[in-house]
Amino acid sequence: MRTVFWDYDRNTVNLIDQRQLPWTYEVIAYDDVTALAHAITDMVVRGAPAIGATAGFGMALAALNSRATDRPNLLSDLEVAGRVLNAARPTAVNLAWAVARQLRISAEPVHDSVAAIRAALLAEAQRIADEDVALNRRMGFNGAALISDGDTILHHCNTGALATVDWGTALGVIFAAHEQGKHIHVLVDETRPRLQGARLTCWELQQRGISYDLIADNASGYFMRKGDVNIVLVGSDRTAANGDVANKIGTYNVAVLARENGVPFYPVVPTSTIDLDLAHGDLIPIEERGIEEVVTVFGKSIAPEGASARNPAFDVTPHRYVTGIVTEAGIVYPPFVKNLSAAVAAGKTLFNTASNE
Ligand code: MRU
Repeated sequence: MRTVFWDYDRNTVNLIDQRQLPWTYEVIAYDDVTALAHAITDMVVRGAPAIGATAGFGMALAALNSRATDRPNLLSDLEVAGRVLNAARPTAVNLAWAVARQLRISAEPVHDSVAAIRAALLAEAQRIADEDVALNRRMGFNGAALISDGDTILHHCNTGALATVDWGTALGVIFAAHEQGKHIHVLVDETRPRLQGARLTCWELQQRGISYDLIADNASGYFMRKGDVNIVLVGSDRTAANGDVANKIGTYNVAVLARENGVPFYPVVPTSTIDLDLAHGDLIPIEERGIEEVVTVFGKSIAPEGASARNPAFDVTPHRYVTGIVTEAGIVYPPFVKNLSAAVAAGKTLFNTASNE
């Protein structure tokens, strides 16, 4: 089962509802773009590549639902749908990347009728989803070269099948190492406030029979200082041209502790998540979410009534803390400015991922 998929009988976008895992497994069908954008904001679907694939299918849905009878009106409806989807969450570049890719396809003169554009957008959305699975597997086996038998890996957030269409990024490396027969152990950061580590990563590791321990976020330094961690693997929502990495809030803390304790720190990043248009990480828009996620746990308040709070959903790890970046085109080492742009070019030839312009 994929995290995001199109139902060809009903013409709906289907999402595993990640808000309910690990307690309830439910798939929700969407037949409307505004509702789909809301599902992204509300984190029914989350994880940069999964959001990108959802947006790809969202554009196909918008084309299908449009009442336009001619090409110009359909293209203008698609522009509107693209804006609605882009506004859903700002940090993960895959969302804007998939919308841009679909707008480019829809504008190709070869698709000269409403029916042709509809067909092209659905085919392209399916291609985005299929490519995501294929490149994640490739990236996973690239990264598995970093893992030795007996290693303990520290992991933050959820970067598995649920964060992508299937397989995963950083967790994909862990799955690949496990498939290769390496005996590994994973320390899973719980990842407050949405608990993607506790709820989703533990669920995925358990399903695959991979050994893990869930730890409170603030325990990672303890384990690194004891020498219990061989490598840190994380994902990214947007990586700037210089190798600065935006990822789930708390990643920066982990990276600084890793450097202090001599533990290698590797983000695992498909080239679709690399934004060469942004020179450095401080230009990455950081989503700030509602404070109810911080002041409550499962609907129960953990702070005095009226407590003031802040809830940035992501942080930026400066590239000086990054040992290397695993991509589908290989493992990229400093100097990142030069080597990331080469990886993006290589990604373009391997798949269609890096076709941002
Ligand atoms: O807020 P989320 O759960 O969408 O954040 C997800 C992450 O930060 C992941 O690490 C990132 O999307 C890359 S993993 C495919």
